[in-house]
Amino acid sequence: MQMRQLRIALTKGRLEKDITVLFERMGYDCSGLRDKGRKLIIPVPGKGLEIVLAKAPDVITYVEHGVCDAGITGKDTIMENGRSFYEVLDLNFGRCRFALAAPRGTDIYSGYNATRIATKYPNVARRFFEKKGMDVEIIRIEGSVELAPLLGLSDAIVDIVETGNTLRENGLEVIEEICPISARLIVNIASMKLRKAEIESLLDSIEKAI
Ligand code: PRP
Repeated sequence: MQMRQLRIALTKGRLEKDITVLFERMGYDCSGLRDKGRKLIIPVPGKGLEIVLAKAPDVITYVEHGVCDAGITGKDTIMENGRSFYEVLDLNFGRCRFALAAPRGTDIYSGYNATRIATKYPNVARRFFEKKGMDVEIIRIEGSVELAPLLGLSDAIVDIVETGNTLRENGLEVIEEICPISARLIVNIASMKLRKAEIESLLDSIEKAI
């Protein structure tokens, strides 16, 4: 039986440009990626490789289930959703950080009621406050989390901060840094064994390019 081409799942949006630059440095013809229109599976000519474009949590799902052999996604998504796969390389781009933030001057540590935290990352937030032994109510928001404290839905947020512009422009400030984040290469557990040579050569050329 002929094996399908090696498949790598890439995160759409925020990381897409850096990933394209990385692949071009690796000598891949990325014209299909740069000019993809609405196409979701893009072959890389002459490399025996297919690129799949997906949302960050779906990159993890496709790699975990083995329909993609490898993936590139942010450490934030891995920390929130991470299950079983190998995290093999820090790609050193997509650098930002997880932070706890609130409207300027807010003291979230005083008061008797549970602090309300809005976030796209409930698991990360829960673990952070569990370590502190702090009683919080976590409210899941899908995007523009900064809105939640402005509208009075939460006292603070746990979110990723890159330039800090979104916080600044909305009157919020970082209360505590949680941890740094960057893009990571992940590999399916079975593929690591069954397609060892191809994965190693992919890893090797990524390492040389970063
Ligand atoms: C992220 C994050 C912040 C913003 C931080 O949102 O949730 O809102 O970027 O970046 P900054 O520090 O450079 O301002 P994203 O743009 O990914 O979209 P979303 O809010 O719709 O999730």
